[in-house]
Amino acid sequence: MRRILVAGNWKMNLTVEKARSLAREVARRTREGAAAVDVAVFPPYPYLLAVAEALSGSPVRLGGQDLHWEAEGAFTGAVSGAMLREAGCRMVLVGHSERRHVFGETDVQTNKKVHAALNHGLDPILCVGEKLDEREAGRTEQVLARQLAAGLEVVGGRDMPRVTIAYEPVWAIGTGRTATPQTASEAHAFLRRQLAERFGSDTAEATRILYGGSVKPDNAASLVGQPDVDGLLVGGASLDAESFSAIVKGSSPPC
Ligand code: 13P
Repeated sequence: MRRILVAGNWKMNLTVEKARSLAREVARRTREGAAAVDVAVFPPYPYLLAVAEALSGSPVRLGGQDLHWEAEGAFTGAVSGAMLREAGCRMVLVGHSERRHVFGETDVQTNKKVHAALNHGLDPILCVGEKLDEREAGRTEQVLARQLAAGLEVVGGRDMPRVTIAYEPVWAIGTGRTATPQTASEAHAFLRRQLAERFGSDTAEATRILYGGSVKPDNAASLVGQPDVDGLLVGGASLDAESFSAIVKGSSPPC
């Protein structure tokens, strides 16, 4: 049985004080409420230590938004997996569409980052997703298959229990245009079939596949209600404790 994960990607937002109080509030509400789902937050790097402190003793997990594949060295502006671990992270986003399309990251780099995460004790969330023109040209499956295969190159079945996949169609991110449950469901089922071909059906069935892209309190339940949607990666709506908690609540299985 796959446990639902609701993850808040704070992107490049907030101040340290706002991040701290948001983390405290998410921790408080998570303690009180939905123990039935896993909850994680991904703050900007300079806020990690403050957020780690605010979350201490709570079940909310901390993650980094990205990492470099090398452990240390002359890589100005980059942060390594070891540094994220030291700051209290246990998870990391890899290949987010903004990394791919704003910063020009390639599939090869994404794959190196997946390995770096695994080697540094961080559970990677590998993000994949097609752009609008790719969807309109009927190339969605081709893009997803390529990003998934390349991102997981030389990752063995033994490591797959630590890997989460996030399907984030680029046209749905920050646009208010959420994928319909049907569209998300088709993409997730396709990704799971790809995982089954590569790793076998047991591993594919055990792998969590999250949906991300304009998730809001009013669409969370219908998305997570789809058989292959195992949680949500939330951007804008994770910046407010109340809406994030409503999404967590809407994603919780009925008791
Ligand atoms: P929005 O929820 O703001 O569309 O962002 C989604 C996302 O990119 C999460 O990683």
